[in-house]
Amino acid sequence: MKKTKVAIFGTGWMGSVHTEALRRLGNIDVAAVAAGSAERARKFADDVCIERSTGDFRELLADPEIEAVHICSTNELHFEQSMAALAAGKHVLCEKPLAPTVAEGRQMLALAQERGLVHGTVYNVRSYPQVQQMRHMRLAGEFGDIRYVQGTYSQDWLFYDTDWNWRIDSGKSRTFADIGTHWCDLAEHVTGQRITSLCGDLETFLKTRKRPNAQVATFQGKELRPDDYTEVPIQSEDFGAVIFEMGETTRGCMTTSQVAVGRKNRIFLEVFGTKCSAAWDAERPDELWIGHRNKRSEVLLKDSVLFEEKARSFADLPGGHSEGYDDTFKQTFRRFYQSVADRGAPVEYPTFQDGIRQLQIVDAVVASSERRGWIDFS
Ligand SMILES: NC(=O)c1ccc[n+]([C@@H]2O[C@H](COP(=O)([O-])OP(=O)(O)OC[C@H]3O[C@@H](n4cnc5c(N)ncnc54)[C@H](O)[C@@H]3O)[C@@H](O)[C@H]2O)c1
Repeated sequence: MKKTKVAIFGTGWMGSVHTEALRRLGNIDVAAVAAGSAERARKFADDVCIERSTGDFRELLADPEIEAVHICSTNELHFEQSMAALAAGKHVLCEKPLAPTVAEGRQMLALAQERGLVHGTVYNVRSYPQVQQMRHMRLAGEFGDIRYVQGTYSQDWLFYDTDWNWRIDSGKSRTFADIGTHWCDLAEHVTGQRITSLCGDLETFLKTRKRPNAQVATFQGKELRPDDYTEVPIQSEDFGAVIFEMGETTRGCMTTSQVAVGRKNRIFLEVFGTKCSAAWDAERPDELWIGHRNKRSEVLLKDSVLFEEKARSFADLPGGHSEGYDDTFKQTFRRFYQSVADRGAPVEYPTFQDGIRQLQIVDAVVASSERRGWIDFS
């Protein structure tokens, strides 16, 4: 059977995660990789045994054998690299946030549609088995009407003023755009409802940070001991809180933080309906708490035979065998490449439309926080 050849742009954390997940699918050949320099690309390629590497992504776009590109580079490159890949006839799976602006996201979508290419944005949190279980519980009517949702996406890796990453300098929103949008995508996906108006509050607690004079990779700032810093003023937020409406009857609230000391990667979503409730925490991904009023509340340990039928295919392992972060990429990519092979396959992965949706929410949260009031964007 012929493998689909793909290229990865970006050799950082996501470059590794994508490479590994693609290889686990079995039908994909990670044939080439591009980084910001030929040396970085070669080192990555040697480490994980990829045949071709380059410091110039455009070289790979000229290769007719490469059918798809994964954009795993820093945010400001997503638009340029995706547009070039689409123009060269490649399917594109782009990391979030999709683009710097909604207008650029729309250009990406228009080009993908014009060329008949498959497009995706990596909101991978949707692909946890228990998230799909919650979604399909809702589709089966088990929650009744959803009254409200609440939760957080909290991390602590930018807690100290010596913690640094390129994200700190990456646009009008940092924490909300980087991780808050994962939560909003999750909440909308599980509830099947759209945020229609919101009131956001973004706060930068650390007004200055010590920027190391050497480059720091994602999550690796904690291990660095730079002896040479530059103190710089910070504009991007460490924390965000959003209260929102989903139509006329459903309400919600969330926080997001990269200075939540002790919280490493807590994506927590709680859904309260007129029949029952459910709560899920990405730090304990195999457990789904289901709350009842007139009988004991319960914890469903991941076991796909106990899942709603349509959630089952998101778990590959038998009950009690953990599936977590890495697996969400595998599940997302599997479905993306089903669409590459068969354009009529159900679209069970986040598309560019979903990426644009989150860019719109970021704009609304930033505007709301600046004007200190509600924004209606139904
Ligand atoms: N879906 C998720 O759960 C998730 C998690 C982390 C990061 N991300 C997203 O993935 C992207 C990368 O984040 P990361 O944490 O891997 O960052 P990182 O700093 O670890 O890696 C960024 C990479 O960009 C690459 N790069 C720079 N210039 C390039 C160029 N001209 N051509 C090709 N590559 C170039 C570099 O090779 C670098 O390794 C970001 O957009 C981020 O928002 C998503």
